[in-house]
Amino acid sequence: MELIRVENLRIYFPLKKSILGGVRGWVRAVDGVDLVIGSRTAVSIVGESGSGKTTLGKAVAGLVRPTSGRVLWRGRDVYSLPKEEYALFRRRVQYMPQDPYSAFNPSKTVFDHLCIPLMRWGKASNRLECVDAVAKILESVKVTPPEEYMFRYPHQLSGGERQRILFARIMMVEPELVVTDEPVSAIDVALRVDQMNLMLDFLERLGVSYLFISHELASARYMAERGGGFIAVMYLGRIVEQGPPRQLVENPLHPYTEALVDATPELDLERARSKRLRLRSVDVPKPYEEIKGCRFSNRCPDAMPRCFEEEPPLIEVSSGRLVRCWKFVKR
Ligand SMILES: Nc1ncnc2c1ncn2[C@@H]1O[C@H](COP(=O)(O)OP(=O)(O)OP(=O)(O)O)[C@@H](O)[C@H]1O
Ligand code: SF4
Ligand SMILES: [Mg+2]
Repeated sequence: MELIRVENLRIYFPLKKSILGGVRGWVRAVDGVDLVIGSRTAVSIVGESGSGKTTLGKAVAGLVRPTSGRVLWRGRDVYSLPKEEYALFRRRVQYMPQDPYSAFNPSKTVFDHLCIPLMRWGKASNRLECVDAVAKILESVKVTPPEEYMFRYPHQLSGGERQRILFARIMMVEPELVVTDEPVSAIDVALRVDQMNLMLDFLERLGVSYLFISHELASARYMAERGGGFIAVMYLGRIVEQGPPRQLVENPLHPYTEALVDATPELDLERARSKRLRLRSVDVPKPYEEIKGCRFSNRCPDAMPRCFEEEPPLIEVSSGRLVRCWKFVKR
């Protein structure tokens, strides 16, 4: 079943001339994105810093109004829902921020952070009743022993623990989709798989879907592959390639996806040595620069004259595999 449909979404931010105002251009954070997210699945968005991942994720969660285009939730335009339905949407579609610390009140304990929503959603009627419920929640996200963590303040937790507690708080409202913004980038590599497994466990048991945002391909692949979804690769506000995780990583089509694959660290030293980053330039154009032609053309090792003239369309090259590159457009 389709939960979210993003249609030709554009989100532009004004580029201020000075603190006194005046607009000298637009940052095209998201620039014509289409995306469908079904139920019980994990869709991964991958791309480098500034490619528009967070802005897209926030728009899907109802937090950034589109400049144009639409975000549909179960077929209804999120940004024109009546107040009550919008509140229901905000409960069913949750956003987990890139920096978990920002989601906590530093003067409240873990217990407070979990007890308050429990009481709000009628799952406990007083603080005493919360104790057992909070302990169970902490156990469910493997923050144990619960009695040791319950009365800690946010600054007394590790990044991974904060992430898990925030995740637990989000799960309490029984969402159907969680936009997780770089949930594993701030935690130890050894704990990343653990955190992703925890999320996947909720997918399997409760059917919750994820829009999993990541700047690295390995985690994006793990989530999408295990969650039965796909990966969409973003570059400067646009999707440049989309496809099933294994195919996309093992046989990347777009030169930018190829560069992402080549930039992924390799344990096998021989294979690592044979990898060469095929980029012509490391400079990423500014998101407010007008670019004629393909947005990747200044860095692309395969660029041809046409690439500097016209931007290629996103085309389907085989079932579920989309790419935006002139190399795949038949003349
Ligand atoms: N509120 C805002 N006002 C102005 N520009 C913004 C705003 N939010 C984002 N941007 C700009 O939009 C572009 C995309 O930002 P976004 O945060 O979506 O990228 P990202 O892919 O999530 O990057 P990162 O990997 O660093 O988190 C960037 O150039 C950013 O500076
Ligand atoms: S359209 Fe041209 S410049 Fe853009 S990715 Fe393809 S080959 Fe490279
Ligand atoms: Mg971001």
